Amino acid sequence: MRLVMMGPPGAGKGTQAQEISRRLDIPHISTGDMLRVAIRSGNEVGRKAKEYLEAGRLVPDEVVIELVKDRLSRRDCDEGFILDGFPRTVNQATALDEWLEGNGLRLDAVLDIEVPRDLLLERITGRRVCLFCGNTYHTVYNPPRVPEHCDGCSRELTQRLDDKEFAVRERLAAYDKQAAPLKEYYRRRGILREINGAQPIEQVGREIGKVLGRDWS
Ligand code: AP5
Ligand code: MG
Ligand code: ZN
Repeated sequence: MRLVMMGPPGAGKGTQAQEISRRLDIPHISTGDMLRVAIRSGNEVGRKAKEYLEAGRLVPDEVVIELVKDRLSRRDCDEGFILDGFPRTVNQATALDEWLEGNGLRLDAVLDIEVPRDLLLERITGRRVCLFCGNTYHTVYNPPRVPEHCDGCSRELTQRLDDKEFAVRERLAAYDKQAAPLKEYYRRRGILREINGAQPIEQVGREIGKVLGRDWS
């Protein structure tokens, strides 16, 4: 299955994509995670992306488009993938469609996780991440077994650099600007599926399962 996950910052894209990836055995491809890894490694993509990420602004289309095309060309994507946080602009969506068409492929669904604004801030401020395995937790809604430590590798959890208030405001503004035309783009193609993200994590997962024709109860 070839899926795209969209929704505002803190909606639960990463949380749900991780679960879908496990259930369907397809890679979870988060452009945000890839860019953060590139920044930590100090490579060329990382150098280009750093200032944008820290400010909460969108990285230029050509940088992310190249990154995603490279990633989708790897063998582990042959049976499908779930893209998380890409495309974010109509320009990126067009580039993705061109790449897919060129390879005789198409998207099965675009899952749009809708969450009211007041819930987003609470989710973002409570988020803790593991820089080593990429696991995401929430102090209240998805706590690790040992407080502030990763279930997977026991290392200490941290907050994302762009989860500071000014960067979050920028990210929300970027979303508000780009989301409507992007949703329209996929609605016209008949593959946009709206998901109610204002429910507990497991329930959102079940709703996604239903939309994809699976029973994940
Ligand atoms: P990215 O990393 O994609 O950040 P984002 O879009 O702001 O989304 P988040 O990762 O903050 O939220 P999420 O929806 O994944 O929520 P999560 O599951 O963690 O992008 C970061 C930056 O990279 C961008 O600002 C930009 O600079 C750059 N970038 C990335 N892609 C780009 C692109 N295509 N083009 C240009 N630039 C790009 O959940 C949040 C918290 O809530 C967690 O703590 C979780 O445990 C909790 N939670 C999740 N679901 C629930 C629930 N149902 N109930 C209660 N709590 C929940
Ligand atoms: Mg995420
Ligand atoms: Zn870890």
